[in-house]
Parts: sequence; C-alpha cells; structure tokens
Amino acid sequence: MAVGVKDVAAAAGVSVGTVSNVLNRPDRVSERTVERVQRAIRELGFVRNDAARQLRAGRSRSIGLVVPDIGNPFFADVARGAEDRAADAGMTVLLGNSDESDERQQAHLELFQEQRVNGVLLTPASEDLTALRRFAAGGMPVILVDREVEEGIFPSVSVDDVEGGRLAARHLLDAGRRRLAFVGGPQSVQQVADRLQGAQAAVAEVDGAALEVIEQPSLTVLQGREAGEAIVARAPDDRPDAVFAANDLLAVGLLQAFSFGSGVRVPEDIAMVGYDDIDFAAATVVPLSSVRQPARLLGWTGVDLLLKELDGVEHDRRVRFQPELVARDSTAFSSRRNPS
Ligand code: RIB
Repeated sequence: MAVGVKDVAAAAGVSVGTVSNVLNRPDRVSERTVERVQRAIRELGFVRNDAARQLRAGRSRSIGLVVPDIGNPFFADVARGAEDRAADAGMTVLLGNSDESDERQQAHLELFQEQRVNGVLLTPASEDLTALRRFAAGGMPVILVDREVEEGIFPSVSVDDVEGGRLAARHLLDAGRRRLAFVGGPQSVQQVADRLQGAQAAVAEVDGAALEVIEQPSLTVLQGREAGEAIVARAPDDRPDAVFAANDLLAVGLLQAFSFGSGVRVPEDIAMVGYDDIDFAAATVVPLSSVRQPARLLGWTGVDLLLKELDGVEHDRRVRFQPELVARDSTAFSSRRNPS
C-alpha cells in the first residue's frame, strides 16, 4: 500500500494541509514543522503523486525536450543549458531522443502531453512539421531549438548556420587552400544546407577556388571515417587540400581516417574545420578547428522563451546567435601555401 499524505500527517502529528504546505509552499510553515514533516516523509518513504498535484495546479513542474541525436555531445550540452534555466524556475526537463524519426518524435510529444508538461522544446526530426503544427494547435507551447522556420509560427532559438559555413570556408581560403570539400549529411537537414550555402558563398568570392560536396547518410563519426577513407583512397592530386565537416562528429571520423598510417598529414596535406566545437574537438588527435555554437546557451534560452510564453511576458519570438570560429592545430598553417 503506497504511503499517502495522511500517513505522513499522522506520523508528524500535523494536519494534511500542513503536509501539503510543506510540499508546495514551505515558506508558509515554521522550520521546525518542515523538519518534522520531512523526517516523516523520509522514514515512511513517501513519494509525492505529481499527477494529482498537476491536475489541481493545472501546470506541471516539467518541460519536455526532444533532440534528434542524444549521442551527439552538442545536444547533451543543449539539454544541460535547458536544465539550468528550468531549475532556476523550480522545474525539471524530461528528455526524449527522436533519433531523427518523426514517429519517435510524435511518441515523445504525446507522452509529454499526458505528463502535462508546461511546454516542449525540440529540434525537429525532419523537415515535415505537419504533426508538430497539429500538436501545437492543441495549445501546448512549442519552442524550436537549433532551428527556425520562415513562417515564424513557432518561437525559436538558433544559430546563423549560413554565417557559420562562410566562416569555416573563409578560414581555409585565407590560408591559401583552394580545393575544398564539404563533408555533410543529407541536405534535407536544414543545418547542413545552411552551412553548405555559407561555404559556397565564401568559395564563390575566390578565383580558382572549388568546393566539392560529399554527402553522407548521417552526421556521425562512422560516416566521417567512411568519407575520410574514400578521400585517402584517391590519388593525392585528386584529394581536397581542405575539408569542412558539417559537424564535429564527422570531423572526428575524418581525422581517424587521415591518421594511423594513411599518409595524409593534417593540416599540411588536408586542413580540417568542424562545427559545434564540442568538448572533444580540442582533444582530438590533431586538435580540431571548429565553428562554435553556444549549445548550452541555446538550451537555456529555449526554456527562457518558453517561460516567457507561459507568463505572457513580451519577448523576441526568434532569437538567433552568431557562430564563432575557434582555430586550432587542424588549421595551424605554419606558412601561407601557394595555391596549387
Ligand atoms: O544534428 C546535426 C547537427 O545540427 C549537430 O551536430 C549540430 O551542429 C546541429 O546544429
């Protein structure tokens, strides 16, 4: 038989109302009584039934967050930032991983609705926002993180990925590299398409520069390694002299393929720039230059936007941060190379 509020009240010698105050409004109860009730809760092993409290209060203490790849440290950092802001407001974050599947994303959204979360932050699993629009039409506040949509129907927090792609390519071009390759995932992923667009714009400004596009099925270390092995298999004169990877996981895989006896030196033969600046970037076999996204700030701001939506506080519906290039050994050019 589960321990209830009445059992705690009897054990502490107080009323049920006092126990409720200790749980929800402890500032209204004397410290001595709070301690007595909390001791009874510990001794009896009482666990509050949030569902009943949520029904009474109309709002839960939780926020839903759905990310497309929990294995990517970038999204772990987004979740950390979201947790930090939620904790400031006495709330918690329920995390779901869609694995870039619309079906799994929908299942998480429905569960969050049952859990009566205050709202949902998510990086959409795909370009199809039909189900998301239907979900939001039910009244649940939705904030896009790491994405924005032109119609502006959802408030969003994101990074200017077109500028990020331009920064990456510009950095390589300024060092005299001219045979660039962009290693990305499907261009149906908006982040990939935007980064490529920025890189193409930078290359178009430099005579004699070219940008080869290598599209992998997904943005993972394994796919980066496969792309790298295909580059190593090419004749040296047929290889790019610089690679811009659409995220750091791809870059880590490329570096793996270029290391360990491949005969390819980074940056001498092939310079490398990644994207996200995850913690591993600085720790790779050749510390990786990367376009930094403020991942924790993205998550923090996403929750902050949600709380402002809930409280009817005026706020920007579209927050966009600027990326920053962090240069490390993978583009440490000892001397400017003559364009070959
Ligand atoms: O999900 C793929 C990429 O998009 C991540 O690595 C991060 O860069 C996000 O913006």
